[in-house]
Amino acid sequence: MESMMYPSLIYDTDKLIELVLELKKQRNAVILTHNYQSPEMYKIADYIGDSLGLSIKASETDADVILFCGVKFMAETAKILNPGKTVLLPTLNAGCSLADMATAAKLKEVKEMYPDAAVVSYVNTNADIKAMSDICCTSANAVEIVNSLPNKRVIFLPDKNLGRYVQRHTNKEIILWDGYCFVHDKLNADVLMDFKQRYPDAKVIAHPECKEELLKMADHVCGTGGMSKFAKLDGSKNFIVVTECGMTEKLKQDVPEKNFMSFCNVCPYMKSVTLPLVARSLIQNTYEITLPQNIMVNARKSIDRMLEFSKNAA
Ligand code: 13P
Ligand code: SF4
Repeated sequence: MESMMYPSLIYDTDKLIELVLELKKQRNAVILTHNYQSPEMYKIADYIGDSLGLSIKASETDADVILFCGVKFMAETAKILNPGKTVLLPTLNAGCSLADMATAAKLKEVKEMYPDAAVVSYVNTNADIKAMSDICCTSANAVEIVNSLPNKRVIFLPDKNLGRYVQRHTNKEIILWDGYCFVHDKLNADVLMDFKQRYPDAKVIAHPECKEELLKMADHVCGTGGMSKFAKLDGSKNFIVVTECGMTEKLKQDVPEKNFMSFCNVCPYMKSVTLPLVARSLIQNTYEITLPQNIMVNARKSIDRMLEFSKNAA
């Protein structure tokens, strides 16, 4: 590794990709990449997918190092599922403001108010919240997981838009948390209406973190993992994709025979992971994810329950 060039001196994307691929081999590392990353980041990835797929891959890998091109809650989930591995996040800027909207103190209060309720936490939470939850979910399985629980009441956190979407698909009482993803929440339904009028033959695919009025205008609501599947199977040629901007690039790669237009915002956390930072991460071991043992053990129970559910549902 000493012979490696310092990555900040390399500005050429192809050379950076070459360097990362070489470092990856040397460290016996696997690179797990979220759909929202930029296309150049796809080129260094061993797997590109949604939060659920990334968790499954993290639990299964026998590589020594798991490097996450995603955000911190995803890297934490990988560490919890595979604690013997070195898990790296290339920059500490890759947080998630939605995850930070749920605090342990507030959850303790809400649990005391509703002692009979199950706690379902979206994977977009920090590890201490997962450790206080009964089960986790992602946008791919939230409705099914809530419906599978014996409890009549469910505390659902932290995304109120996803929570409301779940509420529309269950008979259970959902106790909503006042959290939201600003990337999705600020997408405006009137602007989407203009888009729809301009492209009347295009189908709208929207992420459930968007506001209710916008989801009501969508032809299909799903997490990032479901978007390619829908676009492949649906008879339409044109789609308006309502989520983070990176997803449109992924759809263009996955379904090249169809046309995708973006109605989107950029997630600055996702986009803070770059090729030079990935190279630095593999050279300098930055930033290694570590978590307290008790949090890891308890958070694992809620993530394992979700993965077990997904396996049985598949
Ligand atoms: P998915 O699980 O649908 O990939 O979503 C992750 C995310 O961060 C959405 O903002
Ligand atoms: Fe968090 Fe929203 Fe970014 Fe997803 S898109 S990582 S929920 S801030």
